[in-house]
Amino acid sequence: MQSHVGVDETLSKLCQSIQEVRRSLPIFPFREDLLRAITQHQILVIEGETGSGKTTQIPQYLMEDVRLHSRRNEIGCTQPRRVAAMSVAARVAEETGVKLGNEVGYSIRFEDCTSERTVLKYMTDGMLLREFLTEPDLASYSVVIIDEAHERTLHTDILFGLIKDIARFRSDLKVLVASATLDTERFSCFFDDAPVFRIPGRRFPVDIFYTKAPEADYLEACVVSVLQIHVTQAPGDCLVFLTGQEEIEACCEMLQERCRRLGSKIAELVVLPIYANLPSDMQAKIFSPTPPGARKVVVATNIAETSLTIDGIIYVIDPGFCKQKSYNARTGMESLIVTPCSRASANQRAGRAGRVAAGKCFRLYTAWAFKHEMEETTIPEIQRTNLGNVVLLLKSLGINDLIHFDFMDPPPHETLVLALEQLYALGALNHLGELTKMGRRMAELPVDPMLSKMILASEQYKCSEEVLTIAAMLSVNNSIFYRPKDKVVHADNARMNFTVPGGDHLVLLNVYNQWVESGFSTQWCYENFIQFRSMRRARDVRDQLEGLMERIEVEVVSSLEDSVPIRKAITAGYFYHTARLSKGGYKTVKHQQTVYVHPNSSLFEEQPRWLIYHELVFTTKEFMRQVPMFVYRQRLVAGSGSSLLQEQRAGGQQQQEDAPQTGQDQGRAGIEAQGGHGQ
Ligand code: CDP
Ligand code: MG
Repeated sequence: MQSHVGVDETLSKLCQSIQEVRRSLPIFPFREDLLRAITQHQILVIEGETGSGKTTQIPQYLMEDVRLHSRRNEIGCTQPRRVAAMSVAARVAEETGVKLGNEVGYSIRFEDCTSERTVLKYMTDGMLLREFLTEPDLASYSVVIIDEAHERTLHTDILFGLIKDIARFRSDLKVLVASATLDTERFSCFFDDAPVFRIPGRRFPVDIFYTKAPEADYLEACVVSVLQIHVTQAPGDCLVFLTGQEEIEACCEMLQERCRRLGSKIAELVVLPIYANLPSDMQAKIFSPTPPGARKVVVATNIAETSLTIDGIIYVIDPGFCKQKSYNARTGMESLIVTPCSRASANQRAGRAGRVAAGKCFRLYTAWAFKHEMEETTIPEIQRTNLGNVVLLLKSLGINDLIHFDFMDPPPHETLVLALEQLYALGALNHLGELTKMGRRMAELPVDPMLSKMILASEQYKCSEEVLTIAAMLSVNNSIFYRPKDKVVHADNARMNFTVPGGDHLVLLNVYNQWVESGFSTQWCYENFIQFRSMRRARDVRDQLEGLMERIEVEVVSSLEDSVPIRKAITAGYFYHTARLSKGGYKTVKHQQTVYVHPNSSLFEEQPRWLIYHELVFTTKEFMRQVPMFVYRQRLVAGSGSSLLQEQRAGGQQQQEDAPQTGQDQGRAGIEAQGGHGQ
């Protein structure tokens, strides 16, 4: 019964004015108390149920309050995910009646939607971290909100340490740490016993159902469960948690297909995906009201766990998995794998069903598995990721003693050492672990150290035009070629047409250059099975990188038709990623690990003796993605002064001897880890 009430409530809410909605949020009655607490304390931890209004309301309260906010300074609010930063900024711009990018804006990597007038800036945690480079005391901010603190992303964790430090000498800076109802005591403890402001939840009961036996195919089980809910349960929208884009797309297709077959026998089912790489107009759809008589089903990554709140959800389907980064500090191998989520995650997911009315959560695993097979909480990212990027950044901020950095949870010692070694080999640090001039320039670029190095090396080889394009294309690399299921042959032929000798990086360059020649044509993309959106993004990224070249004093010049310098530059950045042909596949030079050329690679047939790869992906096998042919074989063996060897020598004798431990066979297998998080 209650769920009917809830749905009516939701519908009527949609008709209310935006200000009424604001006043109806759980946080609203506490507006004054909260503002008073912020006035009284420099650092405040704020805990509240997802959807209570922390992200959208607190910054607005601050803007409206003259005590706390003078127009001279900005309010910054960090989000672990790009999607959340954009969508929340759009929402708040709407609520405050301003154009997005004026008073309210957002800043994410390669996309700055702010202006001189911006007072409230939503940003990824990675972006705020980078701002320390230009403004080490964050002087332009009067308030910094570290939001979604419970997510404990790498960048958020580093921000904790840095912000705690600057708060000591910037007594005028207000720091708010906002979190879902998880771990708040720990935040308080870390910030020298900062008070915790609790926003009482308004939560309806959620009935939890488990399966009797484990599900063999959770995707299929999701589809069946959605349809069952749709035909048997009272009105109310449904939220399904899957691990990534591919699964989500497959699930949506299956649902649509089955609904088509059932035709008018069932009520309308509005199927909507949401994941980090989804175009923003599509993302916005999940917030639009469900048509009368229909049911909405949102198929999401764990972005919908706490960062986005979708009104009207009564049913949650939780297969109990998420995609998680893991890192092997011995081999330096990073991977993104589907693993059981934690109990804390599962409980957050279930909570999504009880926001507007009593709800139901269907867990597609057994009660036993919940109790015995799931971890209590998710391990913070800092303990399961490559730290190269962050170490370079901290070094650039003059923080030399990383072992004693104020970490909430310190990273494993080996991971830190490995990061230092890698930076040393790249020439970013000297043998004392101090930042070199090269390192300083590398840190200016908002990309991974190896990619940074590749870009900087292009100066020496006079091919920065091309290398910038390659870097930009690599940053969108997972989604350039369009391969619809019903046109696989055409798509593959189109892709083959781009093949040029020398490997995948040069293929990407070729695609981009042809697109430029077409006048950045949409039609050209369509005809060649290229994703226009990705190309447009690559172009944006390229423009931004090109803009940064001046700052690091790299002249943008072209190697014209010659691919050798380009390959040299790639090698200078990615020499850690070398593999040699051996029986049945390739072996990485660092760890003698067996890897394979991805079937999509232009070198799949050719199988050259030496390769350099961009990243390893784990699907059915350990595949190398984006492999340019290796150009330095002779010199590597002969030991003449190629840049590759210079780089390795820069690492010194010890580096050579310790080589097996310095490997950095990075494999980033997915979109969520890069695009979804941070920057
Ligand atoms: O941060 P917290 O989880 O506490 O809540 P919030 O994100 O500030 O959301 C408060 C309300 O704003 C919820 O009812 C959301 O549904 C709504 N909202 C929205 O309609 N559209 C958005 N893009 C973001 C939030
Ligand atoms: Mg929030």
